[in-house]
Amino acid sequence: MSVVFASALDPRGPAADRAENLWWIMFGLGLFVLVVVAVALLVGVRRHSGSESPIDRREDHEGSSRRWILGAGVVGPAIIIAIVFVATVWSMSVSSQEADGDSMVVEVTGHQWWWEVRYPDLGVVTANEVHLPAGVDVELRLRSADVIHSFWVPALAGKRDALPERTNTLTIESDAPGTYVARCAEFCGIQHAHMNVVVVAHDRASFDEWVAAHRMPAVEPTTADQRAGAELFVDRGCGSCHVVDGLTVGGDTPAPDLTHLASRREIAGGLLDSTGPDLRRWISDPHAVKPGTLMPDVDVTDTELDDLVAYLESLR
Ligand code: CUA
Repeated sequence: MSVVFASALDPRGPAADRAENLWWIMFGLGLFVLVVVAVALLVGVRRHSGSESPIDRREDHEGSSRRWILGAGVVGPAIIIAIVFVATVWSMSVSSQEADGDSMVVEVTGHQWWWEVRYPDLGVVTANEVHLPAGVDVELRLRSADVIHSFWVPALAGKRDALPERTNTLTIESDAPGTYVARCAEFCGIQHAHMNVVVVAHDRASFDEWVAAHRMPAVEPTTADQRAGAELFVDRGCGSCHVVDGLTVGGDTPAPDLTHLASRREIAGGLLDSTGPDLRRWISDPHAVKPGTLMPDVDVTDTELDDLVAYLESLR
């Protein structure tokens, strides 16, 4: 399954198709205006460099100037803006419409600087990854827990703000299975650039498998290292922010759900992978990796760090 990087000109779903069409319409109109202005400029320059004195033609000029101002300054722009307006409303209608009654709802909440992802009807919670079945309308309900963020998966749809005060909906559909990179598209603090989210569209069977796996509580630790790690996870307070279903319940400070951490690709909003060495780097000095993060320094020895990482790596 290839990963599709951000490009609104490589659409993989109906909402993105429309956004691409809108882009080309605006590009075409912009090009048209550029050509008209360039030609008018050239004609003007040529006329004035001719033998006839400009003063002789003053009366002519006044009449044609008025026509130009009215035509190219008022009527032309009004027509172009009207075309762009209609095309924009038409293009937005696909991604703004509430999906059909039986479609899937995903609650996506922006945090500084990660995305919380909940499936209220399926009982699944994850972070920084949105999984969905291909070929189906999925209604994203976007909110923010703090400042304004914006959810943007260019291959599937336009941007939509995630606001603290209200819920915005964005309906997305992927034509086929695929993995798409998404970004926060609204400056939301110093780590705005490190607030990535991955959208994974599955075929039906593999989506059902993903849901079934993610409904399960966390796996029990099996080795001595993992057991020690799980204990440390609780003792050192990791579990007062992070939920690991079956072990900890989180707290007032929201942090990514770690129940199936090891099944995700990335941590820290896309800065690191969910592999052992990266988990180690993250836990031992989160502020060096991501200045400003709410993740606190955890006071652990090297051996304890090994145990913690062994436990986290087991959370498939
Ligand atoms: Cu969140 Cu930018």
